[in-house]
Amino acid sequence: MPLGFTIQSDSEEDTFNLGSQIASFAYEGLCIILSGELGSGKTVFAKGFASFYSSTPARSPSFTLVNEYPGHIPVVHVDLYRLSETDGYDIGLFDYQKDGCIILVEWGERWSLPPEENLWHISFRRAFRNNERALQDGGNTRLLLSVRCKGEKACHRLAECMEKLQKYWRVSDESDSFS
Ligand SMILES: Nc1ncnc2c1ncn2[C@@H]1O[C@H](COP(=O)(O)OP(=O)(O)OP(=O)(O)O)[C@@H](O)[C@H]1O
Ligand SMILES: [Mg+2]
Repeated sequence: MPLGFTIQSDSEEDTFNLGSQIASFAYEGLCIILSGELGSGKTVFAKGFASFYSSTPARSPSFTLVNEYPGHIPVVHVDLYRLSETDGYDIGLFDYQKDGCIILVEWGERWSLPPEENLWHISFRRAFRNNERALQDGGNTRLLLSVRCKGEKACHRLAECMEKLQKYWRVSDESDSFS
């Protein structure tokens, strides 16, 4: 059964910290697709993630398409927002993967043929309470991050990750598959 879980973030700081904690379970050649509407926390997460590997502070790659962060495992942060679609080859995503980078792809749903293994998928959405009202607290919004995997190694690492996160975060089981 495919592994999946959903985790709750109540603030920008939570999302950043989640990024850096989840990063410790990633490995060379892993691709992570980040999907979700505008302003749903993908870049905040990516910055936290990159901070685990690199001392260079991450910026939003919207205007450069790809940012590379050197570190003991290099992290490549991509934003496909301005492309309607990519097969991944035209911008070298598979080359980065072969070179052993970790690849974070914002608007990754625009990647038409993502890898079939060594893949995590994280979708970001705002959580609403009382049917319509989002939790608003000094500009912070409650988010739900749903995490899934494809491939044996990716799922094995994600299972380890989930076990650790459950100790400190609100995590719910969710085993829906994703396409
Ligand atoms: N729980 C939260 N987690 C992350 N960011 C939050 C949260 N609550 C509020 N915010 C705010 O939401 C915004 C998220 O912006 P961010 O750039 O990360 O979104 P994004 O998903 O990358 O958007 P885009 O699709 O435009 O790239 C930030 O301004 C941040 O301060
Ligand atoms: Mg962004």
